[in-house]
Amino acid sequence: MGNIILTGDRPTGRLHLGHYAGALKRRVELQNAGNYDAMYVMIADAQALTDNAENPEKVRQNIVEVCLDYLSCGVDPEKSTIFIQSQVPALCELSFYYMNLVTVSRLQRNPTVKNEIIMRNFETSIPVGFFTYPISQSADITAFKANVVPVGEDQLPMIEQAREIVRKFNAVYGETLVEPEAVLPTNKASFRLPGTDGKAKMSKSLGNCIYLSDSADDVKAKIMSMYTDPDHIKVTDPGKVEGNVVFTYLDAFADESHFKAFMPDYANMDELKAHYMRGGLGDMKLKRFLNEVVQSILEPIRLKRKEYERDIPAVYEILREGSIAASEVAEKTLQEVKNAMRIDYFKDEQLIKEQIKKYENK
Ligand code: TRP
Repeated sequence: MGNIILTGDRPTGRLHLGHYAGALKRRVELQNAGNYDAMYVMIADAQALTDNAENPEKVRQNIVEVCLDYLSCGVDPEKSTIFIQSQVPALCELSFYYMNLVTVSRLQRNPTVKNEIIMRNFETSIPVGFFTYPISQSADITAFKANVVPVGEDQLPMIEQAREIVRKFNAVYGETLVEPEAVLPTNKASFRLPGTDGKAKMSKSLGNCIYLSDSADDVKAKIMSMYTDPDHIKVTDPGKVEGNVVFTYLDAFADESHFKAFMPDYANMDELKAHYMRGGLGDMKLKRFLNEVVQSILEPIRLKRKEYERDIPAVYEILREGSIAASEVAEKTLQEVKNAMRIDYFKDEQLIKEQIKKYENK
């Protein structure tokens, strides 16, 4: 107990296996383990708009997609509050005050933002809102006094930024906010799942993603065309495991039960890798195994999604109720923040007394 968990995703597309391995799976495990006081899962539409200002329709369309992905992976609205960022106005107000605690050069050093600026070709035309999104993300986290933030490795600089803001705020205005901690996946291969083409990251624009909502046939086709070891031409050739996407995915997803069910000739990954490196183990056999493993994970998710897809109004109702509940919590923190900053003038009887006194002797 004593834990408040918060995470979020930008609704710019359906969620993929990278999201699942990197954070979603952990979230659901934490939720079901039950040792927390509250769990919030946020659809970060306002953050998505920081680099999609001209395309709000994309964000609008993907809110329900992301929510369906959450629900189908086991985020349970009875246990977790799923909400939409833009429906919680206190987050903007908090960001506005936090902005005074962060320097431009500090934002410029943020490695995630740096990298994203390059990827988006922003160069000199960086939208201010995008540049400052680490501050708004700090508001997302601190508004709920979250101390546990399960994220992928790429989000570590964001959590660090939030921690700095909390320390600075508490030092200047008095102990008010809670320092969050990132919780990374326990499995190294899940830190950052590469795309099916071997590129560093799954990304919609590169077309190298396996989506949680892909059909079984699509998943199979994507796995069968996955990047392996380009020098492993004949089955008898010795193969490389490092940089071989099929092995990275197996490391991320295959456990002992999968070996028992689909690959009983090998006990575990070590044996499988040893054989591949020796030569004599073909890519097709590996890919068929990976397909079984991934399908066994995605099939229940797919079925659950189908159920929710049949009642879209209920999905929006979950989001509406979650947003109202989240807004109440964030508003309470905002009042504490304003109180600590002493900008809650109308509740500040001391202030009025001081001013009366000042003018009494005039
Ligand atoms: N930046 C995160 C991403 O791109 C999304 C996000 C927004 C988030 N606010 C958050 C994640 C708060 C964790 C906590 O995936």
